[in-house]
Amino acid sequence: MCGIVGYIGFREAYPILVKGLRRLEYRGYDSAGVALINHDNKLSVLKTKGRVQDLENYAKDKDTTGTIGIAHTRWATHGEPSNANAHPHYSQSENLALIHNGIIENYAVIKAELIDKGYTFHSSTDTEVLVQLIEYIKKINNCDLFTAVQLALNQVVGAYAIAIIEKGNPDNIIAARKSSPLIIGIGEGEYFLGSDASPIVEYTNKVIYLDDEEIAILSRNKDPKIVTISNIEKTPEIKELEMNLSQLERGGYPHFMLKEIFEQPETLRSCMSGRINVEGTNVTLSGIIDHKDKFINARRILIIACGTSWHAGLIGEYLFEEFCRIPVEVEYASEFRYRHPVIYSDDIVIAISQSGETADSLAAIELARKAGAFVYGVCNVVGSSIPRNTDSGSYTHCGHEIGVASTKAFTAQVTVLTMMALAIAKEKQTIEEAKYLEIIKELQHIPDKIQKILDLNDKIKELSLIFTYAQNFIYLGRGYNYPIALEGALKLKEISYIHAEGYPAAEMKHGPIALIDNEMPVVTIATHNTIYEKVVSNMKEIKARKGRIIAIITEGDETIKAFADHYIEIPSTVECLDPLLSSIPMQLLAYHIAVNKNRDVDMPRNLAKSVTVE
Ligand code: M6R
Repeated sequence: MCGIVGYIGFREAYPILVKGLRRLEYRGYDSAGVALINHDNKLSVLKTKGRVQDLENYAKDKDTTGTIGIAHTRWATHGEPSNANAHPHYSQSENLALIHNGIIENYAVIKAELIDKGYTFHSSTDTEVLVQLIEYIKKINNCDLFTAVQLALNQVVGAYAIAIIEKGNPDNIIAARKSSPLIIGIGEGEYFLGSDASPIVEYTNKVIYLDDEEIAILSRNKDPKIVTISNIEKTPEIKELEMNLSQLERGGYPHFMLKEIFEQPETLRSCMSGRINVEGTNVTLSGIIDHKDKFINARRILIIACGTSWHAGLIGEYLFEEFCRIPVEVEYASEFRYRHPVIYSDDIVIAISQSGETADSLAAIELARKAGAFVYGVCNVVGSSIPRNTDSGSYTHCGHEIGVASTKAFTAQVTVLTMMALAIAKEKQTIEEAKYLEIIKELQHIPDKIQKILDLNDKIKELSLIFTYAQNFIYLGRGYNYPIALEGALKLKEISYIHAEGYPAAEMKHGPIALIDNEMPVVTIATHNTIYEKVVSNMKEIKARKGRIIAIITEGDETIKAFADHYIEIPSTVECLDPLLSSIPMQLLAYHIAVNKNRDVDMPRNLAKSVTVE
């Protein structure tokens, strides 16, 4: 989704801003722009539809001097991708330039009022309305920029992360946030701004995470000042960034997605590190231990998430019900927040999110907290909004994920949920010791087993060539592998743009089997587990209708090899850990099909990495 970069200091701002925009490209965008106060004190806005490279081409012969500037990548919400709708937006007098992430919900009313007062608009965006409002307020109150921003933000309804600069005022950037992340990097005599840490990390590891309704005044050679929109001054809390620069680079891989798929043995080790003891006999999650009574006495677990994180949540449902004997409901955050759900004060709500910034998940958390439930976050991005708005939680610790299609974050989420289920089940005494120890032991073998599947990359690549031109795909699984069928289908559609559906295998005969003919590839996960025989029967039903089966099987399964059209063998494991292995061939198959189709794998069309608008 949209990205923000800002700089004020002693260096030339433009190269820092453009590099920052490139770091944010992974979020998905359709236009880019910068605003600078040039050395001659002019305020210039340079922007264009397209990629950061298009912006650089456009800016080549323009004045890009100046030591203060703001920059933006836009993911269209109000108004199509175009030069006019790209950010930054000027105010009427062209004295102010503003960038904005989020949505101003009451923009239409404010716009109508401003038009009545003689303001004209050049774009269809809500952002232009905000900058015009700030200018109008500044004029009628004859006040400074900070006060005008503060008064304006009291009038707007919606979500925002903004940064604004003013002609003739080269010493100040004003920035503010509500429901959309904004981070300030603190250097020596310089400040950086970012909608996430990636444009900041190579300059400093000292950051301030702005909170909702806070406005920051970043002034040259002065300490940062933070004041709320209700005019309460806050003491800035400086934190240390956990991200490092190498996480932002491809390290020899053609795409971030492939790099992230191959990182999984290591990311899962890091996810388990310090949580499973050296003897391999115990799982400790401090977030659970600190609140163990809540978990022991929970009436129910509600899991809220979106997209791939929701699929991880479905696996959580199987884990918590099987081992902890707690009823679980898994909800799309976007539905949960609007459907007047029944939430009890002794419910545990688990919010799963890679980015920790998903707008719908944040809103669902707010609802749950208002109802008095205990909210636990499972997030990857340290310091993001969800961990800061939940009662407790566990980080997934898999490093920065850049590919829009989530891979390593998913397996880390499933690993954390597994460790949570084990820790709670132990406290509740709902798991036999032998089972508990067996799963912990097997969890520690998972990274090596994933590596074995990654070694099949060339075979999967070859297989992908056969199916590159398929129009549709079906993915089937049952039990713990059913969410993996959904996830496999999502991976394929989001990066290859091939239509794909995931189903529980036994549901086929209730309708979808009508789709099967000799052109339909059916990816079926059929590993050795308690429902293996049933899945084999479901596969036979597909085969009888000439569907083309690509089977994900346990190593050495001669039964399925005998009738499947193609197969990928994966190591055997305990049933509840199956998803950690069966998801890997799904990721590789989707990746190679997308590459064969020449798709933009890391930045697929229409998608954003972090969905900060609802
Ligand atoms: O950051 P989150 O985990 O909250 O994001 C949720 C979804 O937007 C995300 O999983 C999305 O579905 C990915 N593109 C899937 O690959």
